[in-house]
Amino acid sequence: MFRNRWAIRTALLIGAIAGVLAAGGGVFTASVEAQKTTTRHEVRPGELDDYYGFWSGGQSGEIRVLGVPSMRLFKRIPVFNIDCGSGWGITNESKALLKGTFVGDTHHTHGSYKNGTYDGKYLFVNDKANNRLARIRIDLLETDAIISIPHCQGTHGTFPQRFPQTDWLVMNSEFQVPLTNDGTGDMRNAKAYSGVHTIIDAQKMEVVCQIVVPTNLDLAATDYKGLYSFATSYNPENGATVSEMLANDRDYLVVFNWEAIRAALKGGTYKVVNGVKMLDGKPGSSLALYIPVPKNPHGVNISPDGKYAVCSGKVSPTATVVEIDRIADAFAGKIKPMDCIVAEPEIGLGPLHTTYDGRGNAYTSLFIDSQIVKWNIQKAIDIYKSQKKGETAVVDRLDIHYQVGHTMASMAETKEADGKYLISLNKISKDRFLNVGPIKPENDQLVDISGEKMVLVEDEPAYIEPHDCIMVRRDIIEPLVKHRPRMDEHPLATTKSSVERKGNKVTVRLTASAPVYGMQEVTVNQGDEVTFIVTNTDEIPDLSHGFCVSNYNVNFVVGPYQTKSVTFVANKPGVHWIYCTNFCHALHLEMRMRFMVKARAKA
Ligand code: CUA
Repeated sequence: MFRNRWAIRTALLIGAIAGVLAAGGGVFTASVEAQKTTTRHEVRPGELDDYYGFWSGGQSGEIRVLGVPSMRLFKRIPVFNIDCGSGWGITNESKALLKGTFVGDTHHTHGSYKNGTYDGKYLFVNDKANNRLARIRIDLLETDAIISIPHCQGTHGTFPQRFPQTDWLVMNSEFQVPLTNDGTGDMRNAKAYSGVHTIIDAQKMEVVCQIVVPTNLDLAATDYKGLYSFATSYNPENGATVSEMLANDRDYLVVFNWEAIRAALKGGTYKVVNGVKMLDGKPGSSLALYIPVPKNPHGVNISPDGKYAVCSGKVSPTATVVEIDRIADAFAGKIKPMDCIVAEPEIGLGPLHTTYDGRGNAYTSLFIDSQIVKWNIQKAIDIYKSQKKGETAVVDRLDIHYQVGHTMASMAETKEADGKYLISLNKISKDRFLNVGPIKPENDQLVDISGEKMVLVEDEPAYIEPHDCIMVRRDIIEPLVKHRPRMDEHPLATTKSSVERKGNKVTVRLTASAPVYGMQEVTVNQGDEVTFIVTNTDEIPDLSHGFCVSNYNVNFVVGPYQTKSVTFVANKPGVHWIYCTNFCHALHLEMRMRFMVKARAKA
C-alpha cells in the first residue's frame, strides 16, 4: 500500500519541483498582522540584541555573527577562506591550520553543549568541499583548530554530543566513494561505494572511529541522553545519477548506537584503515538501525524535550516522527525499526528541516510551497494513532519569499528552546531587493513565533549561501567573549622590537602601538626569507592595527594583545612601505615604516 501512495506522490512532487525551479517560485504578498507578541521587532541605535546568531557562510567558507532580532552583521569569522580583515590565510598561524587549502563550503554551525544546552566554549562547522571540520573558540570568536576527515566525501551533517557534554561530535558523508578512494580498482562501480559516520573527539579534534555504511548519510543530529546519533540517508541505492538515487520508495533514518560503538571499540571489532578504526554499520549490525522513512529524506532534528526525532523527505509531503525511547527495543529486536515511527503528518510540499518552539510545536520549512508550516507534535501523534481522516496537525502557515532551505528557531537545538524567533533561510530573494545582477542575495526572513500565529518581522539580504544558523541567548555568549587574549598566549608575543639574522633568514619582532610600530625601518637583502612577528601592545579594546607590506601580498590585522606572524621571501628589491591598514589614531596615516630590500649584486 505504501508503495503506490509514495510512488504517486513522488511523481507529482518531482514535477512540482521542476515547475517551481523553472518559474522561480510564486508571488505571495506577506501580511504582517498587528498582533500581540512577547518579542520585540526593533533594536534601536545604542541598544543591544537579545541573541547571537551564528550563520554558516556557504561558499565563503566562513561563519557570520549576526544580532537577533536586528539582523545586523557584526563579524565574519574566517574559517576555510582567506580574509585580510584578520589575516586569515595570510599569517603563519592560520596557514598552519589551512595547510594550503583555501576553498571551503560551510553548512552547519553548532555550539558545544553541556547538559543539553550551549556551554559557550566552542562553535563547530563543516567544510563540505574539502571534508574538514573546524572549531572556533567562542571567547575570541576565532578559529582554533581544523582537521581533515579521511574516507569521507561531501562531509555534510555535523552535530556535537549534547549530553552530558560535547566529548564527541559526528559528521556524515553525503557522497559515497570507494573505500579506500585511491584510484585503484573499478571506480565506475558505484554499487561498491561506502558512506561513513565519523566520530570525532571534540576536545582533541581527532577522529575516534568511522562507522562504514552501504549508503549515504546526509544531515546529522544527536539525542539528549548521550545514547544515539542520527543521520538521514537518501541513497541506499548507491546510485550515481538522480534517477538512480530516486529508485527506492523508502529511504532511511539511520540511528547509531553509541553504547554498541564503545563496546566495539573496546572489544577490538574493527579494521584499521589508514590509521582509522573502521566499524561495520551495515543493516543488521548492532551499531546502526535503519528506520524506513519516505524517500529522499533531508533534515533530522530532535525535539527540545528529547523525545522525538523528526525527519522529512524532500519528495514526500510528510514529516516522520520517531519516538526515541522506542529505539532501544528496535535495536534489541523486540520491535521492527518501522515501529519507532509514531506519526507521519501531511504538512506540505518539499519539507526539508524542522525546528521547535519548546511549547510542543514544530516548524518545518517547505521548499516547494515556499512556506513555514507550524504543526503540533502531539496532535500529529494522536491522529496517526487514531487513523482519523480529515484531521490535521497543522496549526499555521506562513508564506516566505522564496524557496526556504533551513529554518531555525531561537535556542531550538537545546532543551532551552524559547519559541521567540525563527529564521527562514530562503534560497531565492527574487523581487524583494534592488536588482544586483545575475547572482542575487538570498533572503533570510525573521519571523516572530511567540504568538499563536507566525508574524514576518524582517527581510534581510544574505550573501550566498548561508545554509543554516543557530540563535544563542546573549547571556550564554556575551560574558565569555574577551576584549583581548592574554598576551603570552602566543608563544612569540613580543614587547620589544628587534631584528635577528641567521644566514639568509631574518626575523623581525615588531610591536605595534598607536601610532607607531616599534621600528621605523628594516633593511634586508633580496632573496632573504623574512619573518615578521607583530604584537599589538595596545590594551585598549577595539584598538586594532593593520600590517600591510606594500607589493608583498601581505595584509593582516592584529587585535589588542594579539600576535601574528608572516614569513615570505624578499624577492622584490626597493623601498616598500609597511603601513597600518586600520584607522587607529589621529596619526594613523603616519603609522608606517620602510621595508628596504637591497638588490642582489649583478653577476
Ligand atoms: Cu595603527 Cu592605524
